[in-house]
Amino acid sequence: MESSKILLPKKTSSSCTPWLWLGTWSMGGEGFGPHDERESLRVLQKAHDNGLRHFDTAGFYAHGKSEILLQKIIGTVRQELFISTKGGLIWSGNNVRHSASPESLRQQLYESMERLKTDYIDLYQLHWPDPDVPIATSIAALKEFKKEGLILNWGLGNLTEEELTKHLTPEKNIPHQVHFNPLHNTREVLDAGMNRCISCIISPLEQGLLGSGISSHGIKGISKKDYRNKNPYYCHKGAISFSHQLTKLTDTYDISKTLSILLWICAQPGVHAVISGARKTGQLEEILRFKSEVLENDYCSDKQGEGILAPEKVRAAFPEKLWNLLGSYEGLNL
Ligand SMILES: NC(=O)c1ccc[n+]([C@@H]2O[C@H](COP(=O)([O-])OP(=O)(O)OC[C@H]3O[C@@H](n4cnc5c(N)ncnc54)[C@H](OP(=O)(O)O)[C@@H]3O)[C@@H](O)[C@H]2O)c1
Repeated sequence: MESSKILLPKKTSSSCTPWLWLGTWSMGGEGFGPHDERESLRVLQKAHDNGLRHFDTAGFYAHGKSEILLQKIIGTVRQELFISTKGGLIWSGNNVRHSASPESLRQQLYESMERLKTDYIDLYQLHWPDPDVPIATSIAALKEFKKEGLILNWGLGNLTEEELTKHLTPEKNIPHQVHFNPLHNTREVLDAGMNRCISCIISPLEQGLLGSGISSHGIKGISKKDYRNKNPYYCHKGAISFSHQLTKLTDTYDISKTLSILLWICAQPGVHAVISGARKTGQLEEILRFKSEVLENDYCSDKQGEGILAPEKVRAAFPEKLWNLLGSYEGLNL
């Protein structure tokens, strides 16, 4: 797949897994419950020690603190890492606003490079389209940054199927961050991007609601200051009950819930990379188990039109009832 070239760090090894990234939003220490910076650093270091090379961040995350944290593990291995960051959302006091004019994106890019202490970004993305700036104008700015050598690749995030079809021509293979998981089944966006972009899945566990920690209980499990109070799934009975049903079934089969969800997502057509938000070492271990499971069982697909994993191989290893449940949610699709 073309993505294998685009999504590689400058210095790469054969064990690199460009389909599995670690996201740093919840590690920044703002809005996701109790935070321990040393634990976040342990997660990043352990991820690197276990072969992960792809890290996603954004200037907006925790007012830049996620980028500063990531910088701490870059050290002397910069060229071995694939650093993906984004611009287009900024803080205005306690509120977030869009800001994706060429001038603002340039300013945000320089600030990200300063926090990350790097002279190039592997992938710089438009975080969200700005309603006040045509997407084509933001894209033109990203292309200019690439021409200037500030970034090696440009990408997009959170486009609708119509926007994707309008702005990306077939076979361009531009990275696009898509919110997709068993609750948020945006199949039509993956279909629209099938031969236009490299679809990188964000929030595979719906920010923890599909995990197995306290946040899997929805708003009852999080504090009033938690950002996830704004996530509509967190107060939706159907979504919470779906997560509990998954817990019950995975417990019955003695299979990890996280592993099942990641396998299901990565076996969907048009999924090219998954960005997990593990922020505790125990959570990361499950992500690493997912990686080992994929490699040991040779689940990866090289067929055009398939996702990261060959669906028939994954399905064969899955209890049918669990596979069907993962694809069954029809409640609220926001
Ligand atoms: N472009 C965009 O607009 C955009 C938007 C969202 C995210 N992203 C990117 O995607 C990354 C991932 O998104 P996300 O943070 O929402 O990811 P996620 O994987 O859906 O959720 C992460 C949360 O799930 C829980 N968790 C993580 N690993 C777990 C495990 N193994 N078992 C059980 N629970 C686990 C943790 O919450 P608790 O500790 O509370 O249980 C963690 O904070 C972000 O860091 C960011 O890089 C991009």
